[in-house]
Amino acid sequence: MVREWDPRTASSAEIASLLDTLNAVLAADLPQDPPWRESSMREYLAEVMPGERRISWVAQAEQAADGSPGAILGHVHVLLLGDIGVLEVLVHPSERRTGLGRDLVLTAARRVYQEGFQSIGVEVVGDTPAVAFYESLGFSKEYVETRSVLDLSGVDWAELSEMATGISAGYHLEFHPGGPPDELIEAYARAKAEVRDVEDGELRPSSYDPQRLRDSLDCLHRRGMKPYIVLALHEQTGEVAGLTEVVVPAQHPTRADQYDTIVVQDHRGYGIDRAIKARMLMELRSAEAELTEVQTWNAQANEAMLKVNAELGYRPDREWCEYSIDVAELVHRLDAGR
Ligand SMILES: CC(C)(COP(=O)(O)OP(=O)(O)OC[C@H]1O[C@@H](n2cnc3c(N)ncnc32)[C@H](O)[C@@H]1OP(=O)(O)O)[C@@H](O)C(=O)NCCC(=O)NCCS
Repeated sequence: MVREWDPRTASSAEIASLLDTLNAVLAADLPQDPPWRESSMREYLAEVMPGERRISWVAQAEQAADGSPGAILGHVHVLLLGDIGVLEVLVHPSERRTGLGRDLVLTAARRVYQEGFQSIGVEVVGDTPAVAFYESLGFSKEYVETRSVLDLSGVDWAELSEMATGISAGYHLEFHPGGPPDELIEAYARAKAEVRDVEDGELRPSSYDPQRLRDSLDCLHRRGMKPYIVLALHEQTGEVAGLTEVVVPAQHPTRADQYDTIVVQDHRGYGIDRAIKARMLMELRSAEAELTEVQTWNAQANEAMLKVNAELGYRPDREWCEYSIDVAELVHRLDAGR
């Protein structure tokens, strides 16, 4: 049975059951990824940026004979932003190939259509059943990135320490756990606005103006995701010349996510990319005792960044693709197939 579901008011048992399904999916599809924990799971599912909405549905098994609620075996949510709905679907491995995934997508797509949105986008992990699933529904591939993972146990910390200091004169690095300090927010947002040569895909929104940046940091904190930032400051102008952002999620604190890394055009060629990333890893090592890995996503064309990541020890892991489809076309196609 598929029903609309609100993580803010769901029972703790439902949140735990959804987490079990997510971990069964990870074990089946991405066995090298760490399992997720319950910590801040409700907030992760419920909290959004101002102006965005997330609508969720679950597929729940029948009530057991003893009256205990059935397990959550499928889940879909759609995040409505701009003119696009960003979809995420999960089906427990024991329930696959019965049409449940298709039903969940249809339920969400109908709502996205009713709400007047144009298209649906989804992140699809390479070499998993999701590729054949979305292609069978008519989605097309828009963009491909490579996910790479750094195993911290293999890092040469002495070498990293040299990289962290190998920056030209006239710049200095600053480490800011929690996000940039308020007095640097404007300069920080300017750096992000100027350069879009970043390490994230279109479905992971970046923040380019100060208010949106504050909202985005606030939203991360509410979802249990702790941001860390290393900045390169240009001493002469006080401008932010480069920045790198890593988030440690309460849900999987052994593996952190690299977000944006930016070096502003005028400040390229001074060793900033390498230095800020190296300094970040050194800071994380002391700030996050449980951390063992960092993952990052790169456009395949971004050779300069891939080179620095390889030097740091990142190993390519999977393709990470963005697929999309026109909502009306999807609803029509799925309705016609019923
Ligand atoms: C992708 C997913 C949602 C599909 O769910 P499902 O309930 O098995 O999908 P359906 O039964 O509705 O399949 C619909 C169609 O998709 C295609 N399809 C789905 N899985 C497929 C597979 N493993 N191989 C080939 N085709 C497949 C088929 O055409 C299928 O129709 P058919 O069974 O009549 O041939 C499910 O595998 C899943 O949850 N994957 C994890 C998704 C994810 O986001 N993971 C993130 C962390 S990895």
